[in-house]
Amino acid sequence: MITEKMRDALNGQLNKELFSSYLYLAMAAYFEAESFAGMAKWMNLQAQEEHEHALKFYDYLIKVSARVKLGAIDEPQFEWESPAAAFQAAYEHEQFITKSINELVDLAMTEKDHATATFLHWFVDEQVEEESSVSEIVDNFKMIGDSKSALFMLDRELGQRVNAPEEGN
Ligand SMILES: [Fe+2]
Ligand SMILES: [Fe+2]
Repeated sequence: MITEKMRDALNGQLNKELFSSYLYLAMAAYFEAESFAGMAKWMNLQAQEEHEHALKFYDYLIKVSARVKLGAIDEPQFEWESPAAAFQAAYEHEQFITKSINELVDLAMTEKDHATATFLHWFVDEQVEEESSVSEIVDNFKMIGDSKSALFMLDRELGQRVNAPEEGN
């Protein structure tokens, strides 16, 4: 069993993961509209991965006999200034998620909830991967600057993504 406080916090994270999925799908749609098919594909896969993260919280809550409560998902941003700005926003969002996961670990520790702390460890590791892969793309954008041909190449490269940048789920 987990405490009500822990349950509510985990339900809150389930919602944040669904929002992440929604945000990245909105970015994918933006890239499609701007004809960056590779970036759209990358973000679409990222959106799917976030949905899987949400399901991990769903499954865990069920496993510990805690009630899943699905709240409203915020409307994500619709437009970005540039592809670089969208990836920068994705990077900042991942930093926000990392902070949120760390707070959950802190809570699990105060609650002396070792099972939940262990469950959360996967997410601690995952956030290191997520921040690193998005920050690498942000760096690529900085390197290419205003070069249209380099932007085209980057779009091609991001379109090569077949699954998660790391091991996925
Ligand atoms: Fe996530
Ligand atoms: Fe993420």
